[in-house]
Amino acid sequence: MPESVESVLHVGGASPYDVIVGHGVAERLTGLLGEGGGGPGRVALVVPETLRELAGPVREALASAYRLTEIVVPDGEAAKTVATAAACWDRLGEAGFTRSDAVVTFGGGATTDLGGWVAAGWLRGVPVVHVPTTLLAMVDAAVGGKTGVNTAAGKNLVGAFHEPAGVLCDLSLLRTLPRADLVAGMGEVVKCGFIADPRILELVETTDPAVLTGDGAADSPQLRELVERSIQVKIDVVVGDLKETAGTAGAGHPGREALNYGHTMGHAIERAEDYRMRHGEAVSVGAVFVAELARLAGVLDEATAARHAAAFGRVGLPTGYAGAGYDELRAAMAVDKKSRGDQLRFVVLHDLADPRVLAGPSEEHLRAAYDAMVARA
Ligand code: GLY
Repeated sequence: MPESVESVLHVGGASPYDVIVGHGVAERLTGLLGEGGGGPGRVALVVPETLRELAGPVREALASAYRLTEIVVPDGEAAKTVATAAACWDRLGEAGFTRSDAVVTFGGGATTDLGGWVAAGWLRGVPVVHVPTTLLAMVDAAVGGKTGVNTAAGKNLVGAFHEPAGVLCDLSLLRTLPRADLVAGMGEVVKCGFIADPRILELVETTDPAVLTGDGAADSPQLRELVERSIQVKIDVVVGDLKETAGTAGAGHPGREALNYGHTMGHAIERAEDYRMRHGEAVSVGAVFVAELARLAGVLDEATAARHAAAFGRVGLPTGYAGAGYDELRAAMAVDKKSRGDQLRFVVLHDLADPRVLAGPSEEHLRAAYDAMVARA
């Protein structure tokens, strides 16, 4: 049986807010948005067509307290366009949304990114509360204030940092999430274990994987602990470096860039696969790749490097990839946001929970880590 008690994780900083984790917590929405004179008069619910039914309790909670405008958007990455954002702003304009009104997103990471950007742009910023419906969005996209849409030139190139007024992680919503998406979400969870919280790794390594990703996972205390710990990792990182400006080469903790562990190769693979591979799967392959790169560069010990493939693989994530050649992936990594000029930059580990930046690794090491990735496929 799920624990009924909710957990409240507080995010400090200039715009503090709470992340509430529990089961069936839709009624907490009005508390996060504010009620009566202190709350919004109108609320826009941004929801993909495919999730409208699942959004029932959230719709009811909002409709009982505010004048509700429901904005139905396309599913997934197809929603993350300037055109969809403009259509949302048109709806807010028609409904007369003012600065004291608010947006609620209900969906996966694409919906929180889009709805967050709609809220960030409307009247230069109205409050937004995220209700993430995927594991990936709960532990990553919904927390930390990154919002945005894709353009012809690439993903997430237009957007803003706009911290939410609150985040509601209703674990019951994971009951209907396809297993493959639950597994993919574990990619970001295991990543959090490596960059900051080894207890996450211990839990993954000692829990039956079926408990974490099989039927009933949404109600398991182990998954709940993993979600809460991963969110706490994200909170700790973003509170210290909200706008991702702390990055240093080798010298110290790379700040928010640490969350991009495994993402340099991961993004390159996603691009090579035309974004048909799930993000968490690509991050898993990318983290195992970069652990091998760090080992070859002499900064990470063999056992910790080997632990990567074991931990990610244990929950059913891929650890190798052979779908694109070295030159294609090398070129894609060169346009990663962390790159500077011709020099590739990677978040690597010097030890468990000790992320640093590795700038300009040798081509020999890059190729060897690539070959190992192909061999694991
Ligand atoms: N998803 C990485 C970040 O929020 O910085």
